[in-house]
Amino acid sequence: MNIEQIFENNRAWIQSKLELDPEYFNNLSKGQNPEILYIGCADSRVTAEELMGVKPGEAFIHRNIANMVPNTDLSVMSVLEYAVTHLRVNHVVVCGHYFCGGVLAAMQSTDLGILNPWLRNIRDVYRLHQKELNAIEDDTRRYMRLVELNVQEQCVNVLKTAAVQRAYRTRGITVHGWVFDIESGRLIDLEIDFRSILDKIREIYHLD
Ligand code: CO
Repeated sequence: MNIEQIFENNRAWIQSKLELDPEYFNNLSKGQNPEILYIGCADSRVTAEELMGVKPGEAFIHRNIANMVPNTDLSVMSVLEYAVTHLRVNHVVVCGHYFCGGVLAAMQSTDLGILNPWLRNIRDVYRLHQKELNAIEDDTRRYMRLVELNVQEQCVNVLKTAAVQRAYRTRGITVHGWVFDIESGRLIDLEIDFRSILDKIREIYHLD
């Protein structure tokens, strides 16, 4: 890729925005009021705004390897706290994708150095659902199912936080688990019943 081209693209983009609305960047600079927090994978094929068709200012975005929400990761925990408590988003989305390299790596027995502790969070998801996953004979199907279960468990991690529990109690925030199917471009709602998950985990994780 020609890096210079990126600056060319940027200039053309500014032009196209200003042609439609001369105040576009002026308005953008005034602040943000996003409705959605989107937590997705850093995979270069899985965009955030483009696949959702949202404009700048509409979604607060966090991406990391395999769309994880580890309880001790300061980065994702800060994003969650800021988006929920300060920006007051109404929806938290965890979006995984089929053919996720991070999930595949977690299914293989390879020492990947500093990536090990990160991927271990996905291995923990596998262990939690070992029975269901091991019963799937087809390797690709099992891989796809782990992608889905990983999204579900990251939604559980979202629900463990005090900020989300408080926002649910006081203003009915909703949590969504989605999967992006790279092969078709389709966004799939896993229809995770976060209310019943919250009811189930409340005994242990209740904070607010
Ligand atoms: Co991925």
